[in-house]
Amino acid sequence: MCGITACVTAAADRGDDGDVVDVLLGGLRNLEYRGYDSAGVATTAGDGVTVVKREGGIDELAEAVGVVEPTGRAGVGHTRWSTHGAPTDANAHPHTDCANRVAVVHNGIIENYQSLREELAADGHSFTSETDTEVVPHLVAEALADGATPDGALRAAADRLEGSFALAMVVRGHDAVYAARQGSPLVVGVADGRRFLASDVPSFLQHTRDVVYLEDGDVVRATGDGHEVTDRSGRPVDRPVESVDWQAEDAERDGFDHYMLKEIHEQPAALERAVNGRVSADGDVHLEDFPPGSFADVSDVQFVACGTSYHASLYARQLLAERGVPAQVFSAGEYATTPAPVDEDTLVVAVTQSGETADTLQSVRRAAADGARTLAVTNVVGSTAARECDDALFIRAGPEIGVAATKTFSSQVAALSLLVERLTGDVTGTAGEHRDDLLRALDRLPSDVQQILDQSGPAGLADRFRDREGHFFIGRGVGFPVALEGALKFKEITYEHAEGFAAGELKHGPLALVTPDTPVFAVFTGRHDEKTLHNVEEVQSRGAEVVGIASEASADVAATVDEFLPIPDTHPAAAGVLANVQLQLVSYHVADLLGRSIDKPRNLAKSVTVE
Ligand code: G6P
Repeated sequence: MCGITACVTAAADRGDDGDVVDVLLGGLRNLEYRGYDSAGVATTAGDGVTVVKREGGIDELAEAVGVVEPTGRAGVGHTRWSTHGAPTDANAHPHTDCANRVAVVHNGIIENYQSLREELAADGHSFTSETDTEVVPHLVAEALADGATPDGALRAAADRLEGSFALAMVVRGHDAVYAARQGSPLVVGVADGRRFLASDVPSFLQHTRDVVYLEDGDVVRATGDGHEVTDRSGRPVDRPVESVDWQAEDAERDGFDHYMLKEIHEQPAALERAVNGRVSADGDVHLEDFPPGSFADVSDVQFVACGTSYHASLYARQLLAERGVPAQVFSAGEYATTPAPVDEDTLVVAVTQSGETADTLQSVRRAAADGARTLAVTNVVGSTAARECDDALFIRAGPEIGVAATKTFSSQVAALSLLVERLTGDVTGTAGEHRDDLLRALDRLPSDVQQILDQSGPAGLADRFRDREGHFFIGRGVGFPVALEGALKFKEITYEHAEGFAAGELKHGPLALVTPDTPVFAVFTGRHDEKTLHNVEEVQSRGAEVVGIASEASADVAATVDEFLPIPDTHPAAAGVLANVQLQLVSYHVADLLGRSIDKPRNLAKSVTVE
């Protein structure tokens, strides 16, 4: 979704020019994963507000900035993922009022913008874009004209808006940035003589790791010397400064051609962090906020999630089912409108990398309102999901910039596997006969993934799969969500047709599509492999080439399939993670060969903050 950023400096007192334009452009580059169809900045200096905005990405914007040369000690920036209006220069943010006195950037959706626009137009305001956002600077201008201070005017404008928003603005003649939050993420970065505002911490991570997470209803006035947070009525509210443990380098490309490849290669370290300290030497699970008995009252488990997180949830459901604990997985977009019945013994687990996905948040809010207990499994410590749910379990993957989720899937599965252990123990009162094997396999996951990364398997195969009619992915057990995830990754970044199926389901319809021009990727986990081999033979007899991903010890699979991508021999519950790494690499190399925009696939955004 859109990314917003802002910066204000107190440089006048410190003797440098304190210009924020480069900081804004850098901040936007770090947020480009949130949207990349147009971008803009606005600064205020002296008596003016200067806006530069362009269709395209940050490079196009930087080029325009080089021509216009805006300056200022306070500024806002935006990178857009279109919702209202095409990605044109006119629809790019920032948006201004008629007198060019106020410039506003926005992430979210203003639902009542049509009626506000009609009302403002009737009062003589003229509009230059098709966006929902443009009503905001005009509302602010009205309040300023009535004598309000800039933060008072932002409050007055925010009170008129329905929907979700993170807003940041600059106002002519004020070396300050103003911001408001309602339903869309917004954090303040605190540094000596500088304040930052952004949709997400990586935007300003190279400048500071001290952050203030804002809450819905908060309004901020920030200058280089400090910031004040107030509620909508103007009363001060206290929001603590917290330190994030992410490093600036974590959000950089570090010599890799793409963030995605870097993040695939970070999986051993990410998995290490996900499991580290959570399994004791005597083989017990230690989940910081969840001692034994934490889930003793749980009678029903419901996962809600989107995209890759949905697949990680399916994986967890499978692990629970194997241990005799029933659970359901819901697509959050569906659950938000058609929730399942819950009571106080229902545990609703929101699996969300960003912790900001609107459908997922909406789902847990509904479940909580109906009395369920809620748990966020997330990567982002200060995220809305982490703060709104009753509890949070962090996957500790570090920042993920590539739009296509990779390391966070692995870390989600690792963290969820531990959660499954705790839940199973609490709900069934037994540890499960294979628990020690599984915990050992989790402990070995980082080195097993490293072994895959040290081989060059999928790179050599990519050329075979670049111009095909379709690509099918099949698996059973935890291999099924991995097949879905493999297909999702493939379509996201290659733009080629790909579908995932439960291996046994193939013959109930999809088999009609299987031809010599539709390669099939078959995931084997070591459980019921013989059945999946039957499915492989079914597609081979229709002429399809099969790539098998299975344990290096699976002689049967290696002998049957057309191409073999081995994974280290491990517990079936962990094998899915390893197979998924091979599939990530397949997608990456095919997309690279096709010259696709791997880190920022067309039409997609990393964090979808609208329903
Ligand atoms: C978007 C991203 C996906 C992600 C999904 C859920 O669609 O492109 O990569 O899996 O949102 O995001 P979340 O942050 O909730 O895991």
